[in-house]
Amino acid sequence: MTRKSILFFGILATFLIAMFGMTILPKLFVDEHVKAPEYFTPFEITEGHRIFVREGCIYCHSKQVRPEGFGADVERGWGRGSEATDYRNLLPHNLGTMRTGPDLANIGARQPSADWHYLNLFQPRALNEQSIMPAYPWLFEVVPVDARPGRSGIQLPPEFQIEGKKVLPRDEARYLVTYLLSLDQQITGVD
Ligand code: HEC
Repeated sequence: MTRKSILFFGILATFLIAMFGMTILPKLFVDEHVKAPEYFTPFEITEGHRIFVREGCIYCHSKQVRPEGFGADVERGWGRGSEATDYRNLLPHNLGTMRTGPDLANIGARQPSADWHYLNLFQPRALNEQSIMPAYPWLFEVVPVDARPGRSGIQLPPEFQIEGKKVLPRDEARYLVTYLLSLDQQITGVD
């Protein structure tokens, strides 16, 4: 074999191995795992997902749990290892890479209270004084207490209450929280 052909076959082998490992193998693996039928995703959830993307939550929160043996995610209580089916319906998949905050792949199961999520979005410092998570007040409206009878505002601790006012989640906040509550591996998984 001439030096040129060694070089040629070396480059070809590198290319084929990379293609096998990075495209063919994952495809076989994913096909084997995506056996569940498509399910209908309600408007509130797709809309909430859109707001999750718009507000950039993914810059601080990943949405992928590493399986056991690949880090401490499962021991942290973030859920089981993520499966392909967890992502089958919503685009972009938003797996995320940053973990300034905890992983949210199973947050709907870990924190099922909508009231808690509203408070965390309106003012994270009301739940954790040292929180570095930004507040999202534009997802809420502040109205006089006697406005919109029948709708009670979100539960704010005394030091965050605004005199004579109540805080109501806008539709955007409701959709976002519906989406967060849908991030439950029991719902998205196949088992
Ligand atoms: C600058 C980074 C940052 C951004 C952007 C951010 N968060 Fe957070 N988030 C955090 C951190 C850090 C925590 C951990 C607790 C704390 O400090 O409040 C957290 C906690 C949470 C929790 C509770 C997680 C748990 O396991 O208890 C939820 C839910 C959450 N964030 C949702 C969101 C949503 C939804 C958005 C977008 C609207 C968002 N976050 C944007 C940093 C961020």
